[in-house]
Amino acid sequence: MIPKLDEWPYTLVVDVSEPLINEDPYSYFSFQMPEYPVSVARFVESRIKPTTHPNVLDLFAGQGAMALELQKRGWEPGNMHCVDRSLPKIPPVPESNFHTFNLVNLATIIRTAGIRKQLESLDSFLPKKVADLRGKFDLVTAIQSEMHDDYTLFALGWYFLASGGVLVPDSHRLTPEVFGYNFFEQKTSHGLIYKK
Ligand SMILES: C[S@@+](CC[C@H](N)C(=O)[O-])C[C@H]1O[C@@H](n2cnc3c(N)ncnc32)[C@H](O)[C@@H]1O
Repeated sequence: MIPKLDEWPYTLVVDVSEPLINEDPYSYFSFQMPEYPVSVARFVESRIKPTTHPNVLDLFAGQGAMALELQKRGWEPGNMHCVDRSLPKIPPVPESNFHTFNLVNLATIIRTAGIRKQLESLDSFLPKKVADLRGKFDLVTAIQSEMHDDYTLFALGWYFLASGGVLVPDSHRLTPEVFGYNFFEQKTSHGLIYKK
């Protein structure tokens, strides 16, 4: 039996109000393995432009390597948002916006709301600063998210993407019909584009 959203304890812990500095050694992954964000950014830039998809959200952002790659390719720092549960030590793009949310808990709430047909009241269970970002992004990326749970990633993409926005995870994923992505564009070794 799935609890109702208002009985769901995770609603209390989406917001990380006193974030720590990110000490996770894997948060540097893309600085240690730069071919990852570089290949995803190249993949993005060959199909998507800062003029057509200006507003970017990088999920599980770690120390911010993806934002740096997109900035090099013309995306405006002020239009870039990064989310992780912890803060980067030295943000490589200081003018970008960094948020600390627990993304796994957020995805759990989104999925629960979907299963319980409570999506229309979902935002009332979320911190305002999360709900304010809903549907705002033309491009959502997730590099080495550690969340090899496709439903987590697709639920987050579904929530944050504007209509017509695209989700670019870093590896091949299962087909996410359940969240209403209806367009599968292309597959490369480090990228897929899903369009909402
Ligand atoms: C392997 S690192 C990848 C970092 C970055 N994307 C890169 O490629 O360099 C995974 C990141 O996910 C973050 N993370 C793990 N669980 C999380 C959660 N529940 N909510 C938000 N961030 C989380 C960690 O703090 C870590 O920075």
